[in-house]
Amino acid sequence: MNAANTDMATGADAPTGAASVRPPYAGTRYPKLATIPAFTDFIAKGWQDVDAPVALTEGAAAAAAAHRARLSARFATSTIVVSSGVAPVRNDDCNYGFRANSDFVWLTGCQVEGATLVMHPVPGGHDATLYLPAPFRPGEAGFFSDANHGELWVGASPGIGQWAEALQLEVRATPELTVVRGARGALASASVSASTIEALSLLRSPDLDRELSNLRMVKDEWEIAQLRRAVYDTVSGFAAVVSEVPRAIEDGLGERWLQGTFDRHARTFGNGPGYSTIVGSGPHAPILHWVRCDGPVLPDAALLLDMGVETNSLYTADVTRTIPASGTFSAEQRAAHDLVEKAHRAGMAQIRPGVPYLDFHFAAMEVIAQGLHDWGMLPVSVDEALSPEGQQHRRYLACGVGHHLGLDVHDCSHSPYEEYMGADLEAGVVMTVEPGLYFHANDETVPPELRGIGVRLEDDLLVTDDGHEVLSDGLPIDADGVERWTREQLGRA
Ligand code: GLY
Ligand code: MN
Ligand code: MN
Repeated sequence: MNAANTDMATGADAPTGAASVRPPYAGTRYPKLATIPAFTDFIAKGWQDVDAPVALTEGAAAAAAAHRARLSARFATSTIVVSSGVAPVRNDDCNYGFRANSDFVWLTGCQVEGATLVMHPVPGGHDATLYLPAPFRPGEAGFFSDANHGELWVGASPGIGQWAEALQLEVRATPELTVVRGARGALASASVSASTIEALSLLRSPDLDRELSNLRMVKDEWEIAQLRRAVYDTVSGFAAVVSEVPRAIEDGLGERWLQGTFDRHARTFGNGPGYSTIVGSGPHAPILHWVRCDGPVLPDAALLLDMGVETNSLYTADVTRTIPASGTFSAEQRAAHDLVEKAHRAGMAQIRPGVPYLDFHFAAMEVIAQGLHDWGMLPVSVDEALSPEGQQHRRYLACGVGHHLGLDVHDCSHSPYEEYMGADLEAGVVMTVEPGLYFHANDETVPPELRGIGVRLEDDLLVTDDGHEVLSDGLPIDADGVERWTREQLGRA
């Protein structure tokens, strides 16, 4: 089923290059529908109006207005342009799934594809206008011929007026965006396409990207509520996944079954997974981004689950637990888990306002380096390993052990070192702490009994006025607690 077959190839939305390889239709028994008055007259009439309200999480419009005010204060004299983006084409008129740009969502609450926000400076702030592609309705050629915006293809959709009402914002149709052309020194964020920048003579602005990233670091109450929701639905997703472990083992359905179980859960209770779901059994657990998930679930192995639900408002959780598939850790799995737990607690203990961001990293690394040294796995002393010239312990933990969390899993990634890793923590920051140990099956430096064991513990923390709150404390972090919780989900309590 494709739009080409209805045959419109109306031009603007036709995939690049596709027209040149399509057979000529004129004069054939497969005519272009848009050129047949009998057809276009007939399909234009006889449709009942369908109510298509804007689906917006309560409070999203007000939160976005407050975010725009914060950005406005930083760029008082500049025109600002931020876009939602468009989905890449996968084939012909079938696109990859669309997910709106996070800066755009932060500023508008809107997730419409192909939309652009323009903020014009005025005395005392900015006037904001949102430019949206209006849906093609009955009576318009695009209704049956445009696979992106024709309601025959995508279903009834809210119109410009409904968006204006829902967002309490001036909203106009996309073609009117040309009025921006010539706005002197208009700044475009990384979300704005190269073609729009060229067409409207905008300036691509890394300063704007950095400032948006910095502003998004401290979450407001509404955002914190979204993140709580994301974590809540993620915790129930962990339960759903672990209850499927026996089936994944006994029916040979493997890691993919568990990955699919979480992704279905995330798509049902939120927008979907906030990043590619990681399910690694046994020797796959040490592989940091094991998203291929094409292996079996081994009955006696540790199973690493790194999973996060993204809410309908697009805020994501990012949680990891490593469970014994059998319900009981082996002695080696437990030893690795205990050391990671100790590092995790040491890292989390550093999370409070006014503390340098990286202190949690150093605290966790001290524990890891000491533990590996005690096991005879470091070729140097603990101090040598921990020095900037050493870092030998990082062989078994080569990734970061935490990051900001929000609309993006690795939130605020446009902030430079001095405003992210080099800054102090502030109340309202939401971040992960996620130390691990990754002993690869083919690593000859690892004692044979530890090879093929990977453990990560990852929690989502809110920095509060006087310390922190672990948002993901619905899941245990100690080995006894993890075993008990796992057995409950397996029905073997
Ligand atoms: N799941 C990606 C991360 O933990 O950073
Ligand atoms: Mn993470
Ligand atoms: Mn993670």
